[in-house]
Amino acid sequence: MTAPELALVLVGFGHVGRRFVRLLDEVAERLDFEWRVVAISTRRHGSVVDADGVDVDRARSLVESGQPLGRLDSEPRERSGLDVIRQVARLLPDEAAEGRLVLVESTILDIDRGEPALSHVRAALEAQMHVVTVNKGPAAFAYDELESLAEAVDREFYFEGAVMDGVPVFNLVREAMPVVRVDGFRGVINTTSNFVLSALEQGQPLDQAVREMQARGIAEADPSLDIDGWDAAAKTAALVNVLMGGSMTPHQVQRTGISEVRAGDVKAALASGRRIRLVARASRHDGSLTASVEPELLTADDPLAGLADTENALYLTTDLLGEIGIVQRSGDLTQTAYALLSDISRISLRLRDWTER
Ligand SMILES: NC(=O)c1ccc[n+]([C@@H]2O[C@H](COP(=O)([O-])OP(=O)(O)OC[C@H]3O[C@@H](n4cnc5c(N)ncnc54)[C@H](OP(=O)(O)O)[C@@H]3O)[C@@H](O)[C@H]2O)c1
Repeated sequence: MTAPELALVLVGFGHVGRRFVRLLDEVAERLDFEWRVVAISTRRHGSVVDADGVDVDRARSLVESGQPLGRLDSEPRERSGLDVIRQVARLLPDEAAEGRLVLVESTILDIDRGEPALSHVRAALEAQMHVVTVNKGPAAFAYDELESLAEAVDREFYFEGAVMDGVPVFNLVREAMPVVRVDGFRGVINTTSNFVLSALEQGQPLDQAVREMQARGIAEADPSLDIDGWDAAAKTAALVNVLMGGSMTPHQVQRTGISEVRAGDVKAALASGRRIRLVARASRHDGSLTASVEPELLTADDPLAGLADTENALYLTTDLLGEIGIVQRSGDLTQTAYALLSDISRISLRLRDWTER
């Protein structure tokens, strides 16, 4: 079997994007596809387009030392992520037609509208690219539209890393649970707020815990998105839309963050054998869907109460399989990068199926 040769367009080259390209090298001999990066686009570090393949090691060094990517480009110029996507599609029409172009989207989320990722995904699908993204915006703001567009142009739109990093949530339901109806869920799905609540239990100040999450590349670029519950609300909307057939944005999720939770509250809960956790939940009643993200006081026997530090868990309520729990014992950048890799691997599998027919 020949391994498909994929041309990757990286829009976003921050913590996740750079970890992703290193991971591709680290597991090179296990990959079922060949790859080259043909473009990288960032917001403040410029962009590079090279149909023959960008030197990703040099690109990483440039960004990590604060220098512009344009130094690697034969015709450096200012371009947006959308410009880069369209330029690559023009440069590589055969790869586009053969389904070998993949947008790897890892920009930061604008919680007002789900941009810029939403426009990047739309433009890439329109240019016949497959899309993989770790950004919550597309599935949280426009899942139906983008899924229909992907189907219409016969390309894949995957976003496993949008919730619980590389731990399969969407793929588990999609691949392994046919016919099953998801009627609700309950979970701890924001790593930074869970880490902060655990730190408060240990007597560490909130600011220090947030700084640690930033240093590890886990907190959102704007950590108030984590603390105010927006990140969890975006993930909740994505889960409702994809797993429960909803049509919700993060703004329709009832939301309270943890900024009002005091160290004293957390310690008092602990002293009485309970724990405060930021809980995301959704349910279906008489055909309508409701969703919320709120700090909850949990008894010790609640499986969510035992989640400390960077642990996450999601419990799905289903009609045919009862309650199913997915637990992530530790979350880090490698797992988020793996989400992109696993999504690309599924695209490669599909390309192999095509060529063998
Ligand atoms: N970090 C995690 O553990 C984690 C886990 C799961 C999901 N995610 C999601 O992954 C995404 C990326 O996270 P990250 O930690 O890698 O963030 P990051 O380090 O802040 O990197 C974001 C990247 O996006 C670029 N960018 C921003 N706006 C852009 C635009 N309009 N056009 C082109 N590039 C743009 C930035 O460029 P400049 O640097 O030049 O500004 C940077 O390269 C986010 O959506 C996040 O929610 C992250």
